[in-house]
Amino acid sequence: MTSPLTPRPSCYDHPRYYEIAFSFRDLSHEVDVIQQTIESFAGREVSSLLQLGCGPCQHMAELSRRGLRFEGLDINPAMLDYSRDKAASAGIAATFHLQSMVDFRLTQPVDYVFIALGDLYVQSTDELKSLLRCVAAALRQGGLFLLDWCVQFEPARMFKAEGDRWEMAQGDVRLSAHVVMQPFDHPHQLFREQLDIDVVDGQTQLSLSSHSVKRAVYPQELLELVSGMGLFEFVGWWNDWNLDQPLGATTDAIYRPITLLRRV
Ligand SMILES: C[S@@+](CC[C@H](N)C(=O)[O-])C[C@H]1O[C@@H](n2cnc3c(N)ncnc32)[C@H](O)[C@@H]1O
Repeated sequence: MTSPLTPRPSCYDHPRYYEIAFSFRDLSHEVDVIQQTIESFAGREVSSLLQLGCGPCQHMAELSRRGLRFEGLDINPAMLDYSRDKAASAGIAATFHLQSMVDFRLTQPVDYVFIALGDLYVQSTDELKSLLRCVAAALRQGGLFLLDWCVQFEPARMFKAEGDRWEMAQGDVRLSAHVVMQPFDHPHQLFREQLDIDVVDGQTQLSLSSHSVKRAVYPQELLELVSGMGLFEFVGWWNDWNLDQPLGATTDAIYRPITLLRRV
């Protein structure tokens, strides 16, 4: 085990353990919902999707099985190498971009962009606007932009002091994960996110840790920003990846909310 004084290696430099830690998701259901949003709300045919902050590209295989072309964008070369290998060994013709989501450019636009699991890495309003401009430039007209858990509808629940802990196992790997989000610099709506993963892989033990700073995005300010920029129209928001649960006055526990915008 790493001593408390030694800096812990980053979770993002160990894509396989990161992937196991976050494999609690029902990816097939999430891809069903992506397809439902395409059928119900896209203003164009959708054949290509781009995931921002794609990490180990956990939706890639299922999207590809359903005939959708996958592109992933990330700033971490280790994550992209891992995803490239995964695509190659599954015979998936995917494209990967080593760029930051706050300032990126594609040579060919896509029909759908998504961010999974709260990975909206912006630290200021300027970065949020820049990201929206980059997504708009990367999306064909009528294309959709889906944000999973990126809007802080219920800050008291997101920022609870104890965070969330869970355990996962796969083959010889057992791990426990802990994520805490702690607000600071309230006028700038910033919060620190710390992810710790303790891994036992056969005879090897490893403690991984990652820190990031993000700007919280609240629902009504997102609507104002989107309407002011004139690049997207707001389509809707729903609880827990379920299009039968639009968020409203009677939604009491908000978990994994998704927000959908359409390129005008
Ligand atoms: C927690 S992982 C999540 C991966 C993926 N969103 C998922 O749902 O499994 C976060 C990923 O975001 C990437 N990331 C962080 N900041 C980024 C940025 N500014 N632009 C693109 N990717 C970024 C990290 O390198 C990491 O691979």
